[in-house]
Amino acid sequence: MKYQLNNVNLVYEMDKEGGTAALSDVSLGINAKGIIGILGPSGSGKSSLLYTMAGLKHPTSGQILCNDRDITSMGASQLATLRREEFGFVFQQHFLINYMTVLENVLVPLNKNTIETRKKAKYLLKRLGIEHHANKYPHQLSGGQRQRVAISRALMNNPKVIFGDEPTAALDKGSASEVMELLSEYTKDTLVIIVTHDASILENAKSLIYVRDGRIEKVAKQEVTR
Ligand SMILES: Nc1ncnc2c1ncn2[C@@H]1O[C@H](COP(=O)(O)OP(=O)(O)O)[C@@H](O)[C@H]1O
Ligand SMILES: [Mg+2]
Repeated sequence: MKYQLNNVNLVYEMDKEGGTAALSDVSLGINAKGIIGILGPSGSGKSSLLYTMAGLKHPTSGQILCNDRDITSMGASQLATLRREEFGFVFQQHFLINYMTVLENVLVPLNKNTIETRKKAKYLLKRLGIEHHANKYPHQLSGGQRQRVAISRALMNNPKVIFGDEPTAALDKGSASEVMELLSEYTKDTLVIIVTHDASILENAKSLIYVRDGRIEKVAKQEVTR
């Protein structure tokens, strides 16, 4: 997957004096599979960077190309289609639906409950070691188990990019490294972009992007250029 960000700015609360510049003139090229980490202190703009790349936040100015398609010029429904067909999301909070079982939650992205889709969901749950919880409800699971369900759900549509915003922040160290291992197993054809303030979970990352005050401070390792 190829990303190109050209002079991206994101300003919150423009109506207030000056506003808050969450991203300032960010230019970045990514052409990779595997895990790319976005690191930086709290408030530095990590989530803003992730959400603009995922088409969840519209930059105030600048351009973002995703496999040569300008997502900054797409309308809401075009973006929604792109997200549904090509992106998977894992957040700090799992955002599972409480009144649905584990299996039903994993089926949500496809919006289709058939023998075929159930088979795929069960396969993913099995890969993540939680198939025996398929008929339980989220509140009956541990934090680590719930995050595995969220990962299964993110993988359901064979995404080309998985976006993770602090996906391990609510987990103990053991579950956190398990979750990262599971994600890295799925990186053969997939770009996995992980935002975190905890560099220790990014041992397997190909590249690390350091953000500070809304700017790219430095890029470490291969395959990311500025
Ligand atoms: N919805 C919002 N409204 C106003 N300011 C925001 C909003 N979201 C983030 N910010 C501000 O933008 C900056 C970057 O935030 P964020 O991208 O969430 O940083 P990080 O994920 O690194 O903690 C911070 O100064 C934050 O307070
Ligand atoms: Mg954040």
